[in-house]
Amino acid sequence: MIKSKVPNIKTSIFAVMTSMAKEYNAVNLSQGFPDFQISNDLISLVNKYMSEGFNQYAPMPGVPELRNELSKKTEKQYSRKYNPDTEITITAGGTQALHSAISTIVREGDEVIIFEPAYDSYAPVVKLNGGRPVYIKLKQPDYLIDWEEVNKGVNSNTRLIIINTPHNPTGKVFSEEDMISLKKVVSGTNILILSDEVYEHIVFDGKNHNSIAKYPELADRSILVYSFGKMYHATGWKVGYCMAPEKIMSEIRKVHQFTVFAVNTPVQYALAEFIKREEEYLSLSDFYQEKRDFFNDMLTKIGFDVVPASGTYFQAVNFNTLTDETDFQLAERLVKKFGIAAVPMSSFYHNDENTKTLRFCFAKTDDILEQAAERLENFYSQAKKQLNLF
Ligand SMILES: Cc1ncc(COP(=O)(O)O)c(C=O)c1O
Repeated sequence: MIKSKVPNIKTSIFAVMTSMAKEYNAVNLSQGFPDFQISNDLISLVNKYMSEGFNQYAPMPGVPELRNELSKKTEKQYSRKYNPDTEITITAGGTQALHSAISTIVREGDEVIIFEPAYDSYAPVVKLNGGRPVYIKLKQPDYLIDWEEVNKGVNSNTRLIIINTPHNPTGKVFSEEDMISLKKVVSGTNILILSDEVYEHIVFDGKNHNSIAKYPELADRSILVYSFGKMYHATGWKVGYCMAPEKIMSEIRKVHQFTVFAVNTPVQYALAEFIKREEEYLSLSDFYQEKRDFFNDMLTKIGFDVVPASGTYFQAVNFNTLTDETDFQLAERLVKKFGIAAVPMSSFYHNDENTKTLRFCFAKTDDILEQAAERLENFYSQAKKQLNLF
């Protein structure tokens, strides 16, 4: 028998909820995948490169044409130039970029600050590498960061701080003040930053995405992670990239090289061409803001108290006043009795913190969102009736 290196890891909650959603024929707003067709032009480009014979291994760090385009895009958007030859690597989705970056940096005994609720892939990789996650909670209902607490959480063992903006699962976006506070925390230390920016193009209400690339003192010590899955409704393609100063990226590439070596060749060539059409990704914020508003308006009319997400395609909804159940119990009952699947926020905390909040993915067609709202209305009216009985 083998001794597990990560004994506490269970089957991902997304897989659990999705299989329950299938079993109970529920509307599935649990898993975070966009339910939209990808561009036909992008498909044609992949076909073109396949037909033209671009089917063998790509260069280890990625196709140069794509890295060049990414370098230009980043410089235009965030005013920092990443050298395409030495500072940009194409990865098998954001997931592999995160895995390779954490594996490169974290050693036995290192502490890594993770804000909770957190996307589920950070802590396991930290632990696999012998590191110790140090969890700091975002403060409800606006999921603000208490930077004083972060300051207190830092010590000589702190090696890495992981940030994620726009933030999955809460929809929070980091403000300029957050970035300034982060700068103060790391100044004079050797702490590195891993900035997960896979939702960079999904930011609402005229806010800006505060990429860490915009802050030179931070960018000099940061690894930035992105995903084409989120940019092009193509999460199944598993192609993403990371960027970091050369001295960090040269080490990440050593790990990347022996993790996947290289990523899908024709898709990279197709992306290198397609990414020149800025409007394709610059229109994402408006597209998803409409979805958020459509979904939230329905929930608000029903009577739910919703704090609108500022980015991503996730909406957190608090059920505090409607039930005494834990969010996990509620999520289970909603699937089984009302036919609607969502993710309990507790699954984004290491200690299953019960925040009485569920995460809904609104990257779905309007009719699916309407069906979801109808089912939530059924739940709401039953919950209210029961509350009035007492
Ligand atoms: C915050 C965050 N980071 C990283 C990823 C992983 O990206 P990819 O699907 O490209 O591996 C996701 C995917 O849901 C995510 O939500």
